[in-house]
Amino acid sequence: MSKKARKVDTVTLIDNRTGKQIELDLLQSTSGPMTIDIRSLYKKLGYFTYDPGFMSTASCWSDITYLDGEEGVLEYRGYPIEQLAEKSTFLETSYLLLHGELPTQSQLDEFVSNITYHTMLHEQLLRFYSGFRRDGHPMAIMVGVVGALSAFYHDDEDIHNPEDRMNAAHRLVAKMPTIAAWSYRYAMGLPFIYPDNSLDYSANFLHMMFAMPSEKYDVNPLLAKALDVILILHADHEQNASTSTVRLAGSSQANPFAVLASGIASLWGPAHGGANEAVIRMLTEINESGKPLSHFIERAKDKNDRFRLMGFGHRVYKNYDPRAKIIRKICHDMLAQGACTDPSHQKLLDTAMELEQVALSDDYFKSRNLYPNVDFYSGIIFLGMGIPLNMFTVLFAVGRSVGWVAQWNEMMGDSESKIGRPRQLYTGSPRREYKPIDKRISQD
Ligand code: CMC
Repeated sequence: MSKKARKVDTVTLIDNRTGKQIELDLLQSTSGPMTIDIRSLYKKLGYFTYDPGFMSTASCWSDITYLDGEEGVLEYRGYPIEQLAEKSTFLETSYLLLHGELPTQSQLDEFVSNITYHTMLHEQLLRFYSGFRRDGHPMAIMVGVVGALSAFYHDDEDIHNPEDRMNAAHRLVAKMPTIAAWSYRYAMGLPFIYPDNSLDYSANFLHMMFAMPSEKYDVNPLLAKALDVILILHADHEQNASTSTVRLAGSSQANPFAVLASGIASLWGPAHGGANEAVIRMLTEINESGKPLSHFIERAKDKNDRFRLMGFGHRVYKNYDPRAKIIRKICHDMLAQGACTDPSHQKLLDTAMELEQVALSDDYFKSRNLYPNVDFYSGIIFLGMGIPLNMFTVLFAVGRSVGWVAQWNEMMGDSESKIGRPRQLYTGSPRREYKPIDKRISQD
């Protein structure tokens, strides 16, 4: 248990069935609600708790990221996301997430040099790409290639050694842009472009995505800066589905790269990181349908229709997602500065803003506190950068990798950390005797 979580009181639980009374510790977090420590509940009362989807359950302690969904607050290591987005860089923020403090200049220089040192992929890894279908989704390729890193970095790595864990973190942060860009290059039948370590992190990614060996390619600094901010905004988000997946997979002490591949797989779904791709598909459908926005709003409200407003709603934010506010502004700035020339992007932004306005004044969305989330505007920026639709979630994964590995490292460094092993509320058949096949009656 983190030393920062203090016991401040107890909570009394009375079993109405038996009259038995037990005390459970009440823990004070640094910020946010108090938390009842129920670890001894089963021992004391013989009961489990039931909380599918973790609506009220803290699955772990963490010093990394704090978010207040009611107020729309997000902080990494105590620093507000708005300040980091404005003043920091993705690599500086990565250092903060991994080490707990902002770096001094010499610490940052050393960190950047460590990351830069690891940007290349093992040449053998290149062959993995050709095993995929050309039209395979880049997220599928990324799951495979990141998982395959475990075959290259395994026996000589000790996950109980903090230095080795940090080395794995550096490797991951460094290699993700290369793996991501090459997923795209492979799908397009384009030659792989090797990292250029004279460029900064985000510029290097754009270079590997769009440069040609035969021509000089200058990275647009406006786009590189916008991408860097977007990576900062995606860098961590406490115990979301993919991070919890990483913690659970890592709790068995598995290889970190295999563990991170599980996080990427979890991120892919449209209820999570896949929403940025789904938003653009939805906005395009709206624009091409010729139907009024009210038609789509009504569909989103209809419980018999699976259609939802993608990029809207969040498990924790019951207010405007602070990341969405920043992304919305970048989107406007990029279009205003003429960074994207395709008029269809402006049309998508217009539709998105109109949709936001209509939804936010509708009782259904108001009463459920459904606001735009991080994915609502990010896709329009990606399109403006020339990034194809199926690469959007890949970019989310590039940004989130540092959060995953920081959370994994925190868990592995906790001497009390245990294998994650939830219990269940069993609702199947009670015990029964095996019946020979000739005695069975069909249940159909
Ligand atoms: N459109 C229409 N109705 C919605 C939406 C939406 N986007 N989101 C939630 N609702 C309704 C839902 O039907 C439910 O209504 P009721 O109370 O009448 O049954 C209520 O709001 C609560 O929704 P929920 O599904 O119980 O909430 P949840 O916390 O389990 O799900 C969510 C959160 C993000 C999965 C959901 O809001 C959603 O599916 N949003 C669209 C997908 C999306 O944008 N995902 C990205 C999330 S942010 C980035 C990330 O995590 O990767």
